[in-house]
Amino acid sequence: MDIRFADCSVRFGDRVALHPLTLSLDQRRIGIIGLNGSGKTTFARLINGLVKPTTGSVTVNGLDTVKDDKAVLGQAGYIFQNPQNQLIMPIVADDIAFGLKNRGLPKDEIEARTQAVLLRFGITHLARRRVHELSGGETQLAAMASVVVTGPQILILDEPTNQLDLKNRQMVASTIGGLEQNAVVISHDLPLIADFERVLLFHEGHLIADGDPAETIHRYHEVALC
Ligand SMILES: Nc1ncnc2c1ncn2[C@@H]1O[C@H](COP(=O)(O)OP(=O)(O)O)[C@@H](O)[C@H]1O
Ligand SMILES: [Mg+2]
Repeated sequence: MDIRFADCSVRFGDRVALHPLTLSLDQRRIGIIGLNGSGKTTFARLINGLVKPTTGSVTVNGLDTVKDDKAVLGQAGYIFQNPQNQLIMPIVADDIAFGLKNRGLPKDEIEARTQAVLLRFGITHLARRRVHELSGGETQLAAMASVVVTGPQILILDEPTNQLDLKNRQMVASTIGGLEQNAVVISHDLPLIADFERVLLFHEGHLIADGDPAETIHRYHEVALC
């Protein structure tokens, strides 16, 4: 994985969501923390082109998120903060198969890949369940499976354990821990990112700390309490 921000900034109208930023990301596990409205989601969405830079550029494995937008979507999958909005089909297995059908894959390959990802995420028992009847944790796993099945190298998870009870939180946390993909994880759940290789702290649209989780989390406590 090679993500590069080159003097990238984002403005919405006259509001600056992200001040100019130059950095590279190549770690397997990257956490993003900061107060509400600090620019975390904007930063993460730049990686798969859901948000476009107002100035500068973002590249993912050498692909530009503006010029090569379709190819970038294939490299970096995004799991939204409210993943129930991401599940399109009423039944879990059909939702997982949906992205593969769109790619025109043969029926038996779609079936095999769907079964494999259900097994991989430990949710084979949910295959025929209605997506809107799942628990928060099960919804998160189903949304992850629906993205992973299409084969992205990078997963971007926006507050994946937000609002989950302890049991669902553990289920999702251990699944994230076992992902073979590179993961960029936005979270207020500090233990979730405490053993990551790198943690970025955003504050009012600025990247104000970047490095070791313990140091970055310490800095977060300082800015949150002042
Ligand atoms: N689509 C948008 N239109 C206008 N303002 C936005 C939009 N998305 C985000 N913002 C603003 O940009 C700032 C950063 O938002 P965001 O990246 O969502 O923060 P976070 O994820 O850290 O809570 C906030 O002030 C927010 O209101
Ligand atoms: Mg956000």
